[in-house]
Amino acid sequence: MEKHCRQVAELTLQVVYHLNLSKKQWVQVAIAAYLHDLGKTTWPAELHAKFPLATHDWALIKAHPIASANIAKEIWPEIPEEIVKLVRAHHERPGGTGYPDGLNEPGIETLIIAGCDVYSATTTHRPYRIIHSGQEDSHREALMQISRFAPANLVAAISIATCQSPYKLEHRRVI
Ligand SMILES: [Fe+2]
Ligand SMILES: [Fe+2]
Repeated sequence: MEKHCRQVAELTLQVVYHLNLSKKQWVQVAIAAYLHDLGKTTWPAELHAKFPLATHDWALIKAHPIASANIAKEIWPEIPEEIVKLVRAHHERPGGTGYPDGLNEPGIETLIIAGCDVYSATTTHRPYRIIHSGQEDSHREALMQISRFAPANLVAAISIATCQSPYKLEHRRVI
């Protein structure tokens, strides 16, 4: 899990480089990306590798962004509220289809973290996901999934960042 959070934070840093965000936004997005899945540390160990998932498992899964935000505030009481909001929102999607708050229009910072999160999750082995035949397949699948909720310039930035060293080398090592 720490590896996933590190990957998402590292990819976020590279993606932000290709988008016109301020230095403050850059820092906030990267920190939020690193903290985004802290709430998963509250899950029972078996949930991380469970398949299929039961209804009550989904309740826990859908609550993890809130748990992440609460833990972040516990371990860092002075954490800027913008970072807490980004942590809480990393599974929000345009049109209110995400969770936990069903935000209608998540901002670009949220979508950057969401896109990098989906990229890391889709290209890394998980017990409950069909494994694609090769790395290029999972790369394409990830970009396709991200394009369903992210603007074209963000998809392009993730595509560029994941085709460059050192992210590619570091990331592919754990596949
Ligand atoms: Fe998450
Ligand atoms: Fe994640």
